[in-house]
This record gives sequence, C-alpha cells and structure tokens, in this order.
Amino acid sequence: MLQGKNIVLGVSGGIAVYKVVELLRLLTKAGADVHIIMSKNACEFVTPLTFQTLSGHPVHTDLFSLSQEQEIDHISLADRADLFILAPATANLVGKISQGLADDLLTTSVMATKAPVLIVPAMNSNMYENPIYQRNQNDLAGLGYHILEPVNGALACGWDGQGKLPDPTVIFGAVESVLTAKDMLGCHVLITAGPTREEIDPVRYISNYSSGKMGFAIATAAQQRGAQVILVSGPTNLTVPTGVRCIPVISADEMYSVVFDHLENIDVVIKAAAVADYRPVDRSVQKMKKTADELTLDLEKNPDILTELGQQKEDRVLVGFAAETERLLVHAAEKLQKKNLDLIVANDITQDGAGFDVDTNIVRLLHADGRVEELEKMSKSQVAQRLLDRVMVLWKAK
Ligand code: CTP
Repeated sequence: MLQGKNIVLGVSGGIAVYKVVELLRLLTKAGADVHIIMSKNACEFVTPLTFQTLSGHPVHTDLFSLSQEQEIDHISLADRADLFILAPATANLVGKISQGLADDLLTTSVMATKAPVLIVPAMNSNMYENPIYQRNQNDLAGLGYHILEPVNGALACGWDGQGKLPDPTVIFGAVESVLTAKDMLGCHVLITAGPTREEIDPVRYISNYSSGKMGFAIATAAQQRGAQVILVSGPTNLTVPTGVRCIPVISADEMYSVVFDHLENIDVVIKAAAVADYRPVDRSVQKMKKTADELTLDLEKNPDILTELGQQKEDRVLVGFAAETERLLVHAAEKLQKKNLDLIVANDITQDGAGFDVDTNIVRLLHADGRVEELEKMSKSQVAQRLLDRVMVLWKAK
C-alpha cells in the first residue's frame, strides 16, 4: 500500500529519535519514498547521516541553508507529500503548529502542506498531561490532524507514565491506516484467528500449527478500512492491531461461546481460525503419569462453529477458510456448500509460501455462485485486502 508513496518524516528532538530510525526502515522497505526534515535538536540525538543513508535522500535541517534550498525548497517538499509524519513530536512542536507558528523548516513545511499529517508525540508524562499541551493537541485533532497517542511505560527522564513513543510497527500501522480509504465505515466484522488448544491435563494439549497471522492481517486491514472489528483469537504470539477489540480464547468450546455471545449487530463473520476438531473426553486434573507402555486418548467432536453460523445466517456475510493438503477445490467447495458460506478461502498448505507461520499465502477464492478466483502468491496483508474487497461487494449486495 505504501509502494511509491511520498512521505515526509519530520523529526523533532527527543530521546525517542532512535526508534524513528527503525520506522524509516519499515517505510522504505514497504516501498515508500521518504524525505526527512530534522529539527536542530533532533540532530543532537541522531546524526542526519543515519537518516540520509537509510532514506537515500539528503536530510533537510535548516530553512536558510542556501545549498539545500536550491535543490528542494520546503514548499515543494510539502506539495509533493502524500503524508506528513511528525515523530517524535515534542510539546514545543505541537504547541507551535497549533498556534500557527512557522519559524523553521519543519514547522514551515507542515503549515504549507495539504497532505494528511500524523502526529506521534513523545515526552515526559507530566508535560503530556499538562492542560496547555492537551489543549494544543485537541485543537489539532479537531482540525483533522491525526494523533497517535503515546503509550505508558518507563520514560528516559526516570518517570513512569504516558509519554513513550509507540513501537515503530505500531506507528507503521497508523501510517497505513491514515492512507487507507475508509470504505468499511459502518461495517461490523467478527474475525476468528489462530489455533485452539484442547487440554489433556495441566501440562499437555492437542492443537495445530496455525500462527494466527492470516486472521490478524484481516483484522488489521478491516480496522484500517474503517470497520468495527472484534477479533476472537486462540493462543498466538502476535500483537493485537491498534483499534481492534481482541477477545482471547483457548479451546474450541470457548471460541464457540464468545462468537455466539458477540453476534449481535455483526455484518460479516470471517472464520480464519484453525479450530481443533476433537477434544479429550476427559481432562485429567492432575498431570498424567507415565505408567503403561501404551496410552489411548478418547476424543470427542468439538462443535463446528462455522456450520452453526451457517444455520443461523440471517443476512450476515459468512466467510470460511479451508487449509488442505489434497483435492483443494473439491474439499473447499464441499465446505462452502455444507456450511452455507458466501465465500471460502482455500489454500494448499503443502505449497511453498502458503503454509502456517509464513508471511505469504497462495489462495483461491471460491464464491457461492461457483466462481473461482486464483490469486498469485502474495503477502497475507495483500490477501486480506483482496478478500475484504470481495466481502464489501457481498455486504453491499445484501
Ligand atoms: N471450523 C469451525 N469449527 C470447527 C471446525 C472448523 O468453525 N469445529 C471452521 C474453520 O474456522 C474454517 C472452516 O470451518 O473456517 C473449515 O475448517 P477445516 O478445519 O478446514 O474444515 P473442517 O470442517 O473441520 O473439515 P476437515 O477437518 O475434515 O477438513
């Protein structure tokens, strides 16, 4: 999504500058063309050379540097931008912008731009809570500036509180969000992700290799497109996307209860979770001891959440997943029909780049009207976007 986007990254002085170096790396890796403006104080924390090397462009530091102004004047920098990011944004910078002051290259360029501006403040927590600062920030938010709030934690000044710059991956998510058209506003989506775990005893369980990456990518994309998202997730190592309500679950039974408890007002259900089909008939309260040479576990069927959703479908759009190792289209088509789905995402997990715990997928989309779309190998975020494009068509047709 960021491929070819022209981004101006304005860096003001603060210890968090080092994290912005990582943000720059993420932006350029995603294909964005990033131009850096550093305030004088920012240069005290990290040298312009670091940003220059990673961005591949000269860093702009001083409004009155004649040589730089000949090459690119600040107005053209502001004009060409698809997005302006201010990170870290100090109290001073936020104060100046909110008062319409433009006394250096950074503030002048922000004032001259018509691009969306994402402000990522970072400062001492007392400064952040100061009513004057809060008034300035609220004024800017009211004028349409995007604000990514700082997070809680131990601050470099020795305080503990809200003021830390969010993780670069979180800022990156906010950048994508600002640049994404909000075509899913008003749509309520429930997504399931990850594996389920069926306990045998307090130390052992039955599960599968699902990482949750596909479901989390769909949740991220839907949130960025303006949807209200509930993510019901089995155990994963993934970070909950900003703005998504995540309800963690362990077993299939728990997932079943949470899904049906949250169905009210839901327009779209996307079941990306790899639900364990069976669970032990009895869960041992104590750790099972190694005694006999052989052990047989009695298993019973878990509820099929998607089948039941299909039976109580009403006017919801219902999307399932089919991860198969053979006869992909036959199995997926059977599930589509048996579970009363609108769409099923089928992938052959034996293919390179399509299995569990990788960042790519190779999928086919099978529609209820018999159409089959074959998508090339792409990142799970791209699959998520394509899938949501189809979901939106189905939702609008209901
Ligand atoms: N699913 C579900 N509840 C279950 C099992 C599966 O909701 N107990 C959902 C999955 O989230 C997925 C779809 O059904 O969207 C297909 O899951 P899959 O495991 O591929 O199919 P099953 O119906 O379990 O059939 P099989 O294991 O025989 O392939």
